[in-house]
Amino acid sequence: MTTRQQKIGTGLGAHSTADDVLAQIDLTGTTALVTGGYSGLGLATSRALVRAGAHVIVPARRPAAAEAALRDLPRTEVHALDLADLDSVRVFAERVLESGRPLDLLINGAGVMACPQSSVGAGWEAHFAINHLGHFALVNRLRPALTSSGSRVVTVASSGHFLSDIRWTDLHFRAGYDRWLAYAQSKTANALFAVHLDRLGSDLGLNSFAVHPGSILTPLQRHIPRSQWFEQGWVTSDGEPVAGFKTPEQGAATAVWAATSPLLGDRGGAYCQDCDVAEPATSDDMLVGGVKPWAIDPAAAERLWTLSSELTGLDAF
Ligand SMILES: NC(=O)c1ccc[n+]([C@@H]2O[C@H](COP(=O)([O-])OP(=O)(O)OC[C@H]3O[C@@H](n4cnc5c(N)ncnc54)[C@H](OP(=O)(O)O)[C@@H]3O)[C@@H](O)[C@H]2O)c1
Repeated sequence: MTTRQQKIGTGLGAHSTADDVLAQIDLTGTTALVTGGYSGLGLATSRALVRAGAHVIVPARRPAAAEAALRDLPRTEVHALDLADLDSVRVFAERVLESGRPLDLLINGAGVMACPQSSVGAGWEAHFAINHLGHFALVNRLRPALTSSGSRVVTVASSGHFLSDIRWTDLHFRAGYDRWLAYAQSKTANALFAVHLDRLGSDLGLNSFAVHPGSILTPLQRHIPRSQWFEQGWVTSDGEPVAGFKTPEQGAATAVWAATSPLLGDRGGAYCQDCDVAEPATSDDMLVGGVKPWAIDPAAAERLWTLSSELTGLDAF
């Protein structure tokens, strides 16, 4: 059953790092898969998981860049994957399944933000397709490996979901494209995906969560010119991150916590932030966070699953 959106009290918080989360956790012998695990929050995630003993599979749309970023990290492997291309998702997943290894942790961390309007696949809006449909297809393809009791799937959403519900009547922005609304819709989709996956995965012993990592300067902001970062409220006039922004190691903490915390063993389907279950949002201030009702609505989550299944032709659960 979906966990109530109520803090559970974890002793961790906004300043905790992924290493703090894993201080008492030994991941020796476990296999994790981290999409985007070679940049920004994903790289900090891969590093922390390896330090705790995990073997980490890192799919990459730029394998050479991933190999370079992970060069000094043992127990990692890189394979090509472009989430914008469902054939690439299929080939990657087949490769993982061929190895016969169960996946203990799957962190859907890859994403794009505020891109100029573009479409992929069958004319799908790029944020929705890459951030949501690509991960939907990946998890469905990897379903046979998600069999170890206690497997967790964590999807990195965002407080960006505050800006948009799913646009049921114009999913692909046939009219009036807005880069922030496109990102927001995809992040609502990430949160809803976690809700319904948790419901479908319960028979397998699979738990699923969505997380907001916080605000962190990473290559994610690449589509917004640096000259606009001050106006966006991301940096001070000196170019330093504003108060409340996290380091990548702090930004990785909530996903790592949701993927590993013993406190979550019998919970699932929740949206988390600052290393705890998030409370319902009481304001529109994204820095304060919390979760909006449309991102955790079980009926919307089921509707999105059905729609995503129709678009991708996949439904393995
Ligand atoms: N940073 C923040 O403040 C913040 C806030 C809220 C939520 N988030 C979420 O956190 C996640 C990680 O973001 P980040 O800040 O770490 O950004 P990042 O450094 O840009 O990392 C994103 C990763 O996603 C990969 N990616 C993008 N498109 C892909 C595709 N088509 N196929 C496969 N991989 C693809 C990127 O690969 P390339 O490097 O090859 O492009 C990169 O490795 C995202 O889901 C983002 O929405 C971030």
